Amino acid sequence: MGRILIVEDESGMRGMLSIMLKGEGHNVETCNDGVQGIERVKDGDLDLVITDLKMPGADGIEVLKVAKRFLPAAQVIVATAFGTTENAVEAMKLGAYDYIQKPFKVSEIKVRVEKALEKGRLLTENIALKENQRRQYRLENIIGKSRVIRDLFQLIEKVAPTMANVLILGESGTGKELVARAVHGRSKRFDNPFVVVNCSAIPETLFESELFGHVKGAFTGAVVDKKGLFEVAHGGTIFFDEVADVPIPIQVKLLRVIQDRTFRNVGGIKDITVDVRIVAATNRNLEDEVSAGRFREDLYYRVKVVTIELPPLRDRAEDIPVLATHFLNRLALEQGKKITGFTAEAMRALETFHFKGNVRQLENMVERAVTLTEGGLIELQSVNTSVDAETREGIDFDREVARFERRLILRALEQAGGDRQRAAELLGLTMRSLRYRLAKYRLDAD
Ligand SMILES: Nc1ncnc2c1ncn2[C@@H]1O[C@H](COP(=O)(O)OP(=O)(O)OP(=O)(O)O)[C@@H](O)[C@H]1O
Ligand SMILES: [Mg+2]
Repeated sequence: MGRILIVEDESGMRGMLSIMLKGEGHNVETCNDGVQGIERVKDGDLDLVITDLKMPGADGIEVLKVAKRFLPAAQVIVATAFGTTENAVEAMKLGAYDYIQKPFKVSEIKVRVEKALEKGRLLTENIALKENQRRQYRLENIIGKSRVIRDLFQLIEKVAPTMANVLILGESGTGKELVARAVHGRSKRFDNPFVVVNCSAIPETLFESELFGHVKGAFTGAVVDKKGLFEVAHGGTIFFDEVADVPIPIQVKLLRVIQDRTFRNVGGIKDITVDVRIVAATNRNLEDEVSAGRFREDLYYRVKVVTIELPPLRDRAEDIPVLATHFLNRLALEQGKKITGFTAEAMRALETFHFKGNVRQLENMVERAVTLTEGGLIELQSVNTSVDAETREGIDFDREVARFERRLILRALEQAGGDRQRAAELLGLTMRSLRYRLAKYRLDAD
């Protein structure tokens, strides 16, 4: 059974189709002309639209175009009078599923309607499936399938709509800025500005006026009024990148804005109130910075209402293949190359690589490999050189062994379909020793 809309100006035809399709058990609605039809299509909830092509007012092509925009999974069948097939051809080009010529046989139209509905059902399933995959493996532009990344997606979705200040921690290249953008992108503020304050790049003397703006004449060089980044970010999100580099005197002022969202322009006399969400990031250990007296403790507690930690890429090797493939697809497209994947050895080399520079380094390595590759697959030697460089810097034996263990356990669990007893048997371990390792590698969540 499907939800079908018939748009037809000829009443006899309309009635006939309607009675026939209702007789087949479908839910049928009718419209007498294109203008009505378009209004109905915009309301959605339809599986199939059957529209006449020639109608006064808006014609069937208009109805088709609107349907394509508002009903992504619905199919459109156009009906055309005998001898006017050019219109039908145009309709097919615009994405109509099928066309029928009037007059037509009842048996024929029944078959075509069924086919169109079936196609729509498949499409709906497909859209749902893709949506599911998207939810599972990506959020905004963040990609990953490891447990930590999936937990991260949930955390972002939960925190984004709130006003909570967010502190993002992680080594360089782990995706801190990406997460900050996702927090903004998933909030109601998404269509307002996302302003980045690159704290390590602003000279101390300019910091205050950058953030809070200044009035004309406030200091030498202040020849006009200038808005600060806080005002620019009004209604949106302000992102303090490398927040540990905010100079102490500015930290005091920042604290005040965070507390009551008001400040003054440098040299100004009136209080300015803004509505901004604050997100900060650092690759340093802020607690150490606090102990060393380089970061105010009160500010620390203000910014870390919610803390998001991004683990290094080497601790979530499951993400490496999905990330590598994602970068490959994008870069191959950019460079106009038909590369479909990695050889098994190349991928293995990536999976076991100690990415000091995290995702950014992986991205650079894939870019280099794509440039070097002429064939259809990326081979070991194209990703190899940097691996050698890494080896020369020395290998952390314990860490490498631990990673190897972890992967073996994961593989056994996968093979055993999650049955731990069976996985232990496969590995020749006692249950007790497997349980110990599951806890050690934090694989005991489910
Ligand atoms: N999970 C991910 N999925 C897709 N791309 C990612 C992911 N994580 C990082 N990247 C990419 O890696 C690069 C580095 O990410 P980003 O700039 O967010 O890192 P960062 O933590 O802010 O690094 P830094 O501390 O050096 O500023 C970017 O090109 C980003 O798009
Ligand atoms: Mg960054």
